[in-house]
Amino acid sequence: MKLLWQMDVPVDPKLITLMQTAADCALLQEGVLRPCAVSVRLCGDEEIHAINREYRQVDRATDVLSFPTINYPQGVTAGKADKLLRQELDDEVDACMLGDLILSVPHIYAQAEEYGHSPMREAAYLLVHGICHLMGYDHIEPEDQRSMRAMEEKILSAIGMSRDGESTVTDETLLSLAREAMKRSYSPYSHFAVGAALLCADGRIYQGCNIENAAYGLANCAERTALFKAVSEGATEFTAIAIAAENAAPWPCGACRQALNEFAPDLRVLVTWGDGQKDEMNLKQLLPHGFGAAELNGKPY
Ligand code: THU
Repeated sequence: MKLLWQMDVPVDPKLITLMQTAADCALLQEGVLRPCAVSVRLCGDEEIHAINREYRQVDRATDVLSFPTINYPQGVTAGKADKLLRQELDDEVDACMLGDLILSVPHIYAQAEEYGHSPMREAAYLLVHGICHLMGYDHIEPEDQRSMRAMEEKILSAIGMSRDGESTVTDETLLSLAREAMKRSYSPYSHFAVGAALLCADGRIYQGCNIENAAYGLANCAERTALFKAVSEGATEFTAIAIAAENAAPWPCGACRQALNEFAPDLRVLVTWGDGQKDEMNLKQLLPHGFGAAELNGKPY
């Protein structure tokens, strides 16, 4: 999902990364295959108050406002509305515009504190709630409310943020995000597209694809793209990586094994290829006797 951000206030990049994953998973869980986009404005209470007053005649600040572009027929949601989605194709964005979301950043922090969970979970919940509205869900009738809650819960559990406490991201989510990242591979020379999704200990997920260059030797693998994005955003603890390719099991190359070993020698490495084939190994199995800081410092053999 393309999120077109407008940030009126400074926002912790951790929240942005998690909200991007939540948005991607919302489309996956809803079964929307078409590229979609949502504009997301992160603002203060004054701004959301003004928008609430102007567009909904409600004279108070709130946590999230959603303005869908599609008028879904009763009982129909985005996964079953391909024709309607297609009509919202925006050539400039190269995706179907589902609508606008406004989130109050002060509300994210205040509600996290009130409910006793992390701001990450609250931000994910509010974004997912808003995206569900943009996908045609509502909570006016009890039956509609039940299906909206069920979809919210499905998306939040997929990213390890379900109601019954923070769990772990499912392997299926990580594999799907690697497959999505593969679609963004820049590999005009080898035509070997690779995507990766790296799971951080705090629940963030960084995606990466391979990026080639006319000077062939400069190609960067998908795994290291994801790793370098993560480390440069302050993440250094990782629990799993999923790697996707089209026709062959994309076990990481030697350089990527070594780069991953620096931060997570016990990393779970999941690979997927073809029409859903998968396999898993531990980085220790893929890189026995790996070289690390301990050896540099003269660890006895
Ligand atoms: N590649 C990866 O992205 N990850 C790997 O682990 C193996 C290879 C990429 C690099 C290059 O763009 C293409 O695959 C063919 O070597």
